[in-house]
Amino acid sequence: MKKLAIIAISLLLGLGLEAKKTDLVLNIIPEPQSVSFGKGEFKVKGANFNYDSFLTKPTVEAIAKLADDIYICTGKVNSLAAATGVNYGTPIESLKGIFFLKDPTLAPEEYKIEVGTHAMKVTASDTNGFLYAIATFRQMLPVDVYAARQIKDKLPIPCCTIQDKPRFSYRGLELDCARHFYSVDQVKRLLDVMAMYKLNRFHWHLTEDQGWRLEIKKYPLLTEIGAFRSGTQQTYERGKNDGKRYGGYYTQEQVKEIVEYAGKLGIIVIPELDLPGHMLAAMASYPWLGCTGGPYQVWTRWGVSDQVLCVGKEKTFEFLFDVLDEICDLFPSEYIHIGGDECPKKEWDRCPACTAKMDELGLVSDDKGTRGQKLQNYVTKRVQDYLAAKGRKIIGWDEILEGELAEGATVMSWRGTTGGIKAAGLGFDVIMSPTTYCYLDYKQGTTEKDELAGAGYPKKGKVYDAKNLYSYEPLDGFDDASAAHILGVQGNVWTEYIRNEDQLYFMVIPRLQALSEVQWTIPANRNYDNLVRKMQAYHFKVMDAFGYNYRPL
Ligand code: ACM
Ligand code: ZN
Repeated sequence: MKKLAIIAISLLLGLGLEAKKTDLVLNIIPEPQSVSFGKGEFKVKGANFNYDSFLTKPTVEAIAKLADDIYICTGKVNSLAAATGVNYGTPIESLKGIFFLKDPTLAPEEYKIEVGTHAMKVTASDTNGFLYAIATFRQMLPVDVYAARQIKDKLPIPCCTIQDKPRFSYRGLELDCARHFYSVDQVKRLLDVMAMYKLNRFHWHLTEDQGWRLEIKKYPLLTEIGAFRSGTQQTYERGKNDGKRYGGYYTQEQVKEIVEYAGKLGIIVIPELDLPGHMLAAMASYPWLGCTGGPYQVWTRWGVSDQVLCVGKEKTFEFLFDVLDEICDLFPSEYIHIGGDECPKKEWDRCPACTAKMDELGLVSDDKGTRGQKLQNYVTKRVQDYLAAKGRKIIGWDEILEGELAEGATVMSWRGTTGGIKAAGLGFDVIMSPTTYCYLDYKQGTTEKDELAGAGYPKKGKVYDAKNLYSYEPLDGFDDASAAHILGVQGNVWTEYIRNEDQLYFMVIPRLQALSEVQWTIPANRNYDNLVRKMQAYHFKVMDAFGYNYRPL
């Protein structure tokens, strides 16, 4: 009897301890830089929100939205007021309620959250820092707060101090809206989920062989003709398509709406004008853009086309500069992505205008590169110079490095990591996006759904799941000097086989969450088992609440 009682008591004690322990586990993704727990908890229900006069409008709006969502949950008003007589240096012990205070000593995007029994103090030096603090704050609350669902809960948060900042400044996601088109609302939903996980760059792939998606006022045929194709390849068989007209594009008004929406979430939109390859949709619209003069068709199949822009003609550059003028008016981003990938040189080698240009420039094939590669360098440089005069910088896929790349370009390393390692060694800034880890269109497994939505290219038998992505260490292979050139990491979502939102999120989640820790979290704090735990305990429920599909772990 005595023995049983002892067992019962120790079980109870054990459970009690267990409960206490789990209380002190947070589910934040990406994992913050440091978390230390104190004693007790703070109850968010009904707490007053206060903010100082240095905060930006988007910050105050985000705070108001948080207070509102909490109110919807609890039914108890959280007042929102300007804080007076306090600043970031005010000790938490003399505060009561929730305070958002600008601390100019913190780095860009850095934030700090202190939780005491009577107050929460949130500090940052810029808008993004506050937005990330709010994202973290939300993840310390029940899933219902995310979903703005009513619950009976005082919303306790354990007393703690969180100090957090990103490992990399560039934390991107690319979406290919050309192979398959995603509506304005669908793009916004992707931006929403990026913001939840502190991604800050949306690389928008807008032009392709299979469709031109951006309204350009000076060249209306780009969208009248170039935005639509007569069929779509449905299986891995190149020769076959479904014969159904498919397409769509974004008006300039819609683009402005998306850029503004992203901006409020702390996300910069980087448009990609992919050149001089991947231009068939433009060439179908204006056949003089090609070496043969066409006729061309918006492509109905996937792959790499031999037909590329004719760069021996001045008129092609006039076109590119006009398009870039409108792009620069629409996108305030410092960087414009100019593609540069997969540009076969066959047509140039037999085009009178292109070969004449190579001769005029005195291009010869040597150990630095072929004549064709050097002609692409010439195109890259002219576009780079044109954009530089407008105060913009270029990003290009790692092919732009072939031949000789001009100073000031940023290289996006996709064909493995060697391009990035070489570029950084030469002093170029680099964004890492190797297919082996960062291609979210690659298959995650062998189920029917994996087969349906995943691209056909990956190596047979290799699985590109969240665990594989998570194992990526972006600085592997770089020496210290080169590592300083790594701006960050990007995941790419090519959509040849991703036909709708349902498939999109099956491919993106949970790889997006894994990606966010690769981008944000210091290596010492990364732990895949912990990521899986956080997904199961919390984040899949958040995805459910918002109706995002995902691939279960
Ligand atoms: C690419 O995947 N062609 C950049
Ligand atoms: Zn040509």
